[in-house]
Amino acid sequence: MTAKPAFYITTPIYYVNDIPHIGHAYTTLACDVLARFKRMDGYDVMFLTGTDEHGQKVEKSAAAKGKDPLAFCDEVSMRFRDLAAFMNFSNDDFIRTTEKRHKIACQALWKKLEGSGNIYLDKYAGWYSVRDEAYYAEGELIEGKGDEKLAPTGAPVEWVEEESYFFKLSAWEEALLKYYEDLPETVLPKSRKNEVKSFVEGGLRDLSVSRTSFSWGVPVPGNDKHIMYVWIDALTNYLTAAGYPNVDHEKFQKFWPADVHMVGKDILRFHAVYWPAFLMAAGIEPPKRIYAHGWWTNEGQKISKSTGNVIDPFDIVEEFGLDQVRYFLMREVPFGNDGDFSRTAMINRINSDLANDLGNLAQRSLSMIFKNCNGQIPQVGDFTTDDKKILGAVDVLLPQIRDLMDRQSINKALEIIWKVVSDCNVYFAGQAPWALKTTDPDRMGTVLYVTAEVVRQIGILIGFIMPDSSSKLLDQINVSADKRKFAELGAAGRLVPGTRLDKPEGVFPRYIERSAK
Ligand code: MSP
Repeated sequence: MTAKPAFYITTPIYYVNDIPHIGHAYTTLACDVLARFKRMDGYDVMFLTGTDEHGQKVEKSAAAKGKDPLAFCDEVSMRFRDLAAFMNFSNDDFIRTTEKRHKIACQALWKKLEGSGNIYLDKYAGWYSVRDEAYYAEGELIEGKGDEKLAPTGAPVEWVEEESYFFKLSAWEEALLKYYEDLPETVLPKSRKNEVKSFVEGGLRDLSVSRTSFSWGVPVPGNDKHIMYVWIDALTNYLTAAGYPNVDHEKFQKFWPADVHMVGKDILRFHAVYWPAFLMAAGIEPPKRIYAHGWWTNEGQKISKSTGNVIDPFDIVEEFGLDQVRYFLMREVPFGNDGDFSRTAMINRINSDLANDLGNLAQRSLSMIFKNCNGQIPQVGDFTTDDKKILGAVDVLLPQIRDLMDRQSINKALEIIWKVVSDCNVYFAGQAPWALKTTDPDRMGTVLYVTAEVVRQIGILIGFIMPDSSSKLLDQINVSADKRKFAELGAAGRLVPGTRLDKPEGVFPRYIERSAK
């Protein structure tokens, strides 16, 4: 047997100074959907998520709560693990930067960078934002209230003057530009790639990569007065989980370089400029793709703790249902763009796409089979042009979806699945099998067979988006576990006439406002 191809996908690791909100859930959900798709498509997948636990920001948050930093990290990190379980995320590993394996990897990478002449000791004098954990040039700052200087993100900045190690980022301009050219889709969406390229073309300054003014982090090997800059520490998590520094190991050989680093647009520069530069400087292959997704607002407003409009993923799942939330987040907004979370939009998606379109199609066709065909998948007569057309449409979905998923166009993949659902509803209404009950029961059987066959395939295809609903739907038509695979799509896994059905129960209930219940 030939080995399965490998696919390594990562989420950013989440800061533990904050509890999980919709933005975090969104990033991890997108990775979960991509990871599940690849697994179903025959890949050996490693899907990584975790928490970013070092740095001044975390040290300050712990101190403000009167807690020891590690005890504080244990608590918040756990909430991210709980969220992963709650949202049915299929991550294979959960990394914490406070783990020993990670400290070893960071120090090994540092030594490689130092050994290759890419790190030197100097003095840093400039602006730093603890909230962003980022350095800013004077010219980048904006004016706040009363002459206060702010980072371009609106975060406060402070003047820092201290001895610091520097990474020779300026030496990597050309190599980075070549990297963007050699792998044309290294950075997606395309507009983001242009943004990154022009940043690099504008000239790169060496990057301060250590701090001496706090202690919560990984010490610089050989000079533990210095703590590594939190972004070197954080980015290295992707290597740690692949087994670094043990590069000869099977795991590293198999999964490195990562196939996709999924990030929010706010942290693209760290991933698409600093990270590949660090890797190339250490003689390690840079990632194949960095995808920057957009941000969610809440009913048109920027989501922030201070506005008090943070959306808690636990709450919305409780109210709307897990698969409903998973579907909405992936379908509502073209992946890569910003999106607005609104109750109205959520309820529309639940009631129209899920309850009306797919839910009714399945419920109506399966109920008719249950009542009128002895609870068995009916026998088929000759297929008409209409039958062939709708079967043909569902049979060819997988390669189209595969192309879209390879470019992380998740919403488009859903769109084409739902186009077939909607065409099948038109087919079902047009064939009107209920009117054939007495006039032509054989033809009714064929129409119900064709519709159930479309439902079967859609049931398999939604497995990576809504795993629970997919199972429920396939349970109803008694598709056995070994037949819930992409290999069973199309003619290969056609429903077998005579297969018994259970009494169908709706998989996608309508959402009724609590006040209207
Ligand atoms: N710790 C760093 C990442 C280090 S990766 C080596 C970090 N953490 S974070 O917790 O602040 O953000 C994690 C992710 O959540 C980012 O990709 C960010 O874009 C995403 N989101 C935070 N708020 C968001 C929205 N309102 N909408 C969508 N995603 C957002 O940055």
